[in-house]
Amino acid sequence: MRDMDKNIRVLGLESSCDETAAAVVSGDGEILSNVVLSQIEEHKAYGGVVPEIAARSHITHMDRLIKQALREANCTFGDLSAVAATSGPGLIGGVMVGMMTGKAIAAARDIPFIGVNHLEGHALTARMTDDVSFPYILLLVSGGHCQILVVRGVGDYQRLGTTIDDAAGEAFDKTAKILGLGYPGGPAVEAAAKLGDEKRFALPRPLRGKPGCNFSFSGLKTAVRREVEKIGDSITQQDMYDLAASFQRALCDSILDRMTRALDLYLEQCPVGPHSLVVAGGVAANSFLKSNLRQLCLTRGFSIIAPPPSLCTDNGAMIAWVGVERLKRGMTDDLDIAARARWPLDPDAPPAKGAGVKA
Ligand code: KG4
Ligand code: ZN
Repeated sequence: MRDMDKNIRVLGLESSCDETAAAVVSGDGEILSNVVLSQIEEHKAYGGVVPEIAARSHITHMDRLIKQALREANCTFGDLSAVAATSGPGLIGGVMVGMMTGKAIAAARDIPFIGVNHLEGHALTARMTDDVSFPYILLLVSGGHCQILVVRGVGDYQRLGTTIDDAAGEAFDKTAKILGLGYPGGPAVEAAAKLGDEKRFALPRPLRGKPGCNFSFSGLKTAVRREVEKIGDSITQQDMYDLAASFQRALCDSILDRMTRALDLYLEQCPVGPHSLVVAGGVAANSFLKSNLRQLCLTRGFSIIAPPPSLCTDNGAMIAWVGVERLKRGMTDDLDIAARARWPLDPDAPPAKGAGVKA
């Protein structure tokens, strides 16, 4: 079976936010190419992603990136077994660009099309990189998403918690903006925090000790703003570092509190090991958060798996891999599948009030 898998080639396209990406992945999980073009520079002046600019940029670059991905994978369209493209959730104009391009290739070559849920891309990456078996618990933390899910199988998810306001990455980005550290804020806040005193400012730990596993981060960002206003014009570089460190500590404490509850819930549901926690999404690149989560996992007998940062942030390989997983199970889509701005992985979970289009 593995030998047959080797010959499978899936093209994956990603265009749901501010990365245009194309990749070719083989049936046994080898990444043959993975081309990602970030639009960060185009959105920088606005301090966040502008949907119209993003969609236009995807149109400009997608076909060139596909050619490059095929060339680097030593492939032609004729070698492809299927095409997978993000079909939601995300900024709808961008999603439509990648999805229509993928459909056109699939129609022209008469090969299967797979409309991929972007969140499933993040959720299943660890199976490509680390061969993790089902079930496992997933902490998905990025600029647009902040969720805890039980991953029971392909297309089979149970959401244990989600944010009721900002996503974790969004909190990093907004705090960076308040501190004048630039965009995207996560890496900048992490670097600044290394030089600061995490105990200097007493910031809130939203929802700590509360029932359930939901997150809330908007109060934390507001508390940082208040501290900056309190200090006023005399604010120093060291104040900024201390605020960054105190913010990162508070955000991590909140996540750890929520994750502790989630791991205990998971153990009740799935008592038979091995137990794995997978951390995915852009914020999974944060080493401070990862080392704190590692400690927590030790106390509960979980192994922790975090794919490399380049595969944690948005990319085409994760979409191609979902294509592989689904193709092998016969889970392909008709060409009339629609783009979806909202597309929860767990359709039975109640919608969370302020969780944005991606919850
Ligand atoms: O997964 P991703 O590339 O895009 C989304 O789907 O949202 O995640 C980007 C987010 C941004 O909010 C960025 O600030 C955050 O991930 N991020 C980090 C770090 N690196 C990226 N947050 C904290 N620490 C980091 N080192
Ligand atoms: Zn993402």
